[in-house]
Amino acid sequence: MSILFINGSPRPQGNTATLGKRLLTGIPHTTRDLADYQLNFEQDQRETTQPQRDLTDDYEHLMTTYFAPASDIILGTPVYWYGMTGQIKVFMDRWFDSFSHDFPFAGKRIYLLIVGADQPETKTTGIIQAVQYSCDWLKMDFCGTGIITADGPRDVANLTILPVNCQVLRQHIQTSIE
Ligand SMILES: Cc1cc2nc3c(=O)[nH]c(=O)nc-3n(C[C@H](O)[C@H](O)[C@H](O)COP(=O)(O)O)c2cc1C
Repeated sequence: MSILFINGSPRPQGNTATLGKRLLTGIPHTTRDLADYQLNFEQDQRETTQPQRDLTDDYEHLMTTYFAPASDIILGTPVYWYGMTGQIKVFMDRWFDSFSHDFPFAGKRIYLLIVGADQPETKTTGIIQAVQYSCDWLKMDFCGTGIITADGPRDVANLTILPVNCQVLRQHIQTSIE
């Protein structure tokens, strides 16, 4: 059992990073900030003779070294224009390359963390659905979402306790790895 937190925020010490840290306090895990990696846009090569793969950036390294061995993966994203950040979107787009090469997605447990300033509990259903349907398609197990309203970079750090939906998610992760 190994746990991977993927931070899709460009702020390495921001709310999403802090939420991941607090959610996983005391639970052994690895964190990767997508902003530290070069990720090229997905190229759809289906109508060409080119391979459905791009080895010129960090994507394959991330997948092979961190994603493949993980049983439980927490995807964290701030809300950007009512969607996920470009970092997470591009990373997920690239899953198509891995899917095309029989990457072992099936059975991995996926959790979603969302941080936004404007009523993210009601305005981020699009993000949740995108992740949930992608998990369904790749036969991964979507295990739920933790959502926090926060804007300033220390808002999550300043919370006394995490909201119940995040506590429930933490409990789920703990139970899954026991
Ligand atoms: C480019 C940009 C777009 C944003 N768009 C939204 C939005 O559509 N809805 C929202 O609730 N918050 C929006 N926000 C606010 C961020 O979601 C919020 O500040 C969040 O706490 C940032 O998380 P971070 O500290 O992990 O980067 C936006 C912030 C930026 C920089």
